[in-house]
Amino acid sequence: MVAGTTGEPAASPAAHFASGADLVEPSVRASAHGVLETTLTAQVGTTTVAGQPVTAWVYEGSFPGPTLRIRNGDTVRVKVINDLTEMTNFHTHGFHVSPGGRSDNIFVMIPPGESFQYEYRIPTNHSPGLYWYHPHPHGISDDQVAGGLAGVIVNEGELDQLPGIVGLTERLVIIQATQFGPDGAVVAAGDQSATTQLHLINGQLQPVIRMRPGEPQRWRIANISAGNFYNLALAGHPLHQIANDANPLDVVQSTNALVLGPGERAEVLVQANSSPGTYEFRNLLWGGEFQAMPDILLATVIVEGQPVTPTPLPTTLLPFEDLSQLPVDRQRHLTFQIMGSPSQFLIDGQMFDPDRIDQTVQLNALEEWVIHNTSEDWHPFHIHVNDFQVAAVNGEPIVSHSYDDTYLVPPYGSITMRTRFLDFKGTFVYHCHILFHEDHGMMGVVAVV
Ligand code: C2O
Ligand code: CU
Ligand code: CU
Repeated sequence: MVAGTTGEPAASPAAHFASGADLVEPSVRASAHGVLETTLTAQVGTTTVAGQPVTAWVYEGSFPGPTLRIRNGDTVRVKVINDLTEMTNFHTHGFHVSPGGRSDNIFVMIPPGESFQYEYRIPTNHSPGLYWYHPHPHGISDDQVAGGLAGVIVNEGELDQLPGIVGLTERLVIIQATQFGPDGAVVAAGDQSATTQLHLINGQLQPVIRMRPGEPQRWRIANISAGNFYNLALAGHPLHQIANDANPLDVVQSTNALVLGPGERAEVLVQANSSPGTYEFRNLLWGGEFQAMPDILLATVIVEGQPVTPTPLPTTLLPFEDLSQLPVDRQRHLTFQIMGSPSQFLIDGQMFDPDRIDQTVQLNALEEWVIHNTSEDWHPFHIHVNDFQVAAVNGEPIVSHSYDDTYLVPPYGSITMRTRFLDFKGTFVYHCHILFHEDHGMMGVVAVV
């Protein structure tokens, strides 16, 4: 259909995209005998989104990119080929690996037409769960990620073996937001908006997820959009969260709605109702002003077929070291700011400079960082290499059930987090994971010495 021919406004986002197909998952590249060796070619090319041929930014021609499956102790080699007409690079979001050399080094830049061989050594005690990968070139990452350059990484591990979790049907629920013009070409990230974007799961529009009555499933949910917040709810079904940003919780947390900011992941158990039916998985209204998210149907769950005899869901999972009561080596205050007109996106009054070190920390130090937000936007705070424990929000202590690698800093509020700078010296970054903000300067450099 040509936009406009039926009286539909040209911006009508979903006019010719197909919805309602069964959920499919990206192809999988799994490690074997301790090694995963793979190539990811980044290009602007033809791919299929919601049943339609479109032109997007893709790894291996796939929207989202292939899923990497790894285990602790693996060596992971990813050759990234840049077939774009601009710089790119590669980041493994959430990995606790070296930030230098050929490892998770976002200061490497791959010029167009060239390639770079990355190599990651996954520690034997690396946290299991859902990670993701995406380009990280400062100033242009929003277009690349919003256009489709992103995929997930599953690190198998101890959580998968717990009673009540082992053997469950797993679903990847990879959420992306993007927008295509009438010609099928992806729209520049800065011209997209939440009300005109397609809100996709595994590159599909409103897919169908099938469950049997009473069946528990494990959903690994990732918000790998470039800047959207999702407030997720499945009608008639609580979400039983078991992991957060690839960190197992100590005890299961049940909720009716789960907010995931850009970059965040959650793993949940969902137990289908004992009677057949159709249930909507929606984004509920969220936020205000520039960050408002409309009510959106994301997927439909159809409960049908032979009932499953329900087994109890787990309650206790895996312990983590509580950092909240320990003496800290140092406290720092950082302030995320939006100032001036046109807006500048700053941390402590400064825009990102890759050649400036903003924080110098000692290897193995336990630090407390208070991240202040003087703006009316939420900012998803993210730091590379070392996850953190949030100890307070807006100065009020909270009980954490695991660590995070990304956490939402409320408007005119703060988070207080504690982290240990373990195992790796070198320089890496912390930033707002709204990539428009990051590209415009809301990022800083930390050096571990
Ligand atoms: Cu998901 Cu610095 O990145
Ligand atoms: Cu990251
Ligand atoms: Cu921000």
